[in-house]
Amino acid sequence: MTAAVERAVPDDRVDAVLKELEARSRKEQQQLEELRAAGGTALREQAASFMLDVGPEAGQFLNTLVRGTRARIVLEVGGSVGYSTVWLAEAVRATGGRLYSIEVDPEKRAEQHAFLTSAGLREYVELTGLEAPELVPTLPGPVDLVLLDHWKELYPRDFDATWAVLRPGGLVVADNIVTPRKNAAVIAAYQRHVAGVPDAQSQVLAVGDGLEITVKREAPLCD
Ligand SMILES: C[S@@+](CC[C@H](N)C(=O)[O-])C[C@H]1O[C@@H](n2cnc3c(N)ncnc32)[C@H](O)[C@@H]1O
Repeated sequence: MTAAVERAVPDDRVDAVLKELEARSRKEQQQLEELRAAGGTALREQAASFMLDVGPEAGQFLNTLVRGTRARIVLEVGGSVGYSTVWLAEAVRATGGRLYSIEVDPEKRAEQHAFLTSAGLREYVELTGLEAPELVPTLPGPVDLVLLDHWKELYPRDFDATWAVLRPGGLVVADNIVTPRKNAAVIAAYQRHVAGVPDAQSQVLAVGDGLEITVKREAPLCD
C-alpha cells in the first residue's frame, strides 16, 4: 500500500531512507499485481526480489503505537529490506528500547543493515535470521509489541511463540489481514487461532493492508 500520509518523523536521515524505500516500493507494485494475478506459487518463488512492505500508513501507525505504548522490547517477524524496521527502530530510539528484527533471507538482512545505518538507527536494532521460536528464549525480558509480517501460514506458530513472552497489556500486530485477498483462507485460520486464545482480545483496523491488533488482557486492577 502506498497511501499518502504526512510524515510525522522529524529526522532528515530517517525521512530520506523512507522516501527511497517508498519510491522502490511504488515501482514494484505493477509487477506484484501481475504475479498475484498469475496465482499459484509465482509470487512466493520471486519474493526475494520484492520488498512487500507494509506501506507508509501502516509504518507510521506502528511507529505511533510503539511510542504511545512506550514499548521497549519490540519484535518484528519479517523485516524484508527494512522499511517497517526503520519505522519501528525510530520509535524504539524514542522509547529507550530495542528492536529485534527477524529476516530469514540473508541478502535482505544485508539491505536492512545498510538502510538502518543510513538512517542512523543501526545501534537500536538486533538483526537475526533465527526463526521466532528460536529467538524468543534469548530475549532479555518480556516483549511489549510484536509485528507479524512474514509468511502468513507461520502466523499461528509465531503468535504462540511470542505470546508466551508477551507482557500483560502487550500487543501483537499482524499485517495483511484484509489484502491481498489471495491470503484470505490462511488469514482466517490465523484469526480463528487467535480468537481461541484465552486473554487475547483483537480488533482489525483498516490501516494499510489491514492490521489485526491483539492485546494480552491484564488481570483487573480492581473488582
Ligand atoms: C511481507 S515481507 C516483510 C515486509 C516488511 N515488514 C516491510 O514492511 O518492509 C515478508 C518477509 O518475511 C520473510 N520471512 C519469510 N519467512 C520468515 C520467517 N520464518 N521468519 C522471519 N521472516 C521470514 C521473507 O523473506 C520476507 O522478506
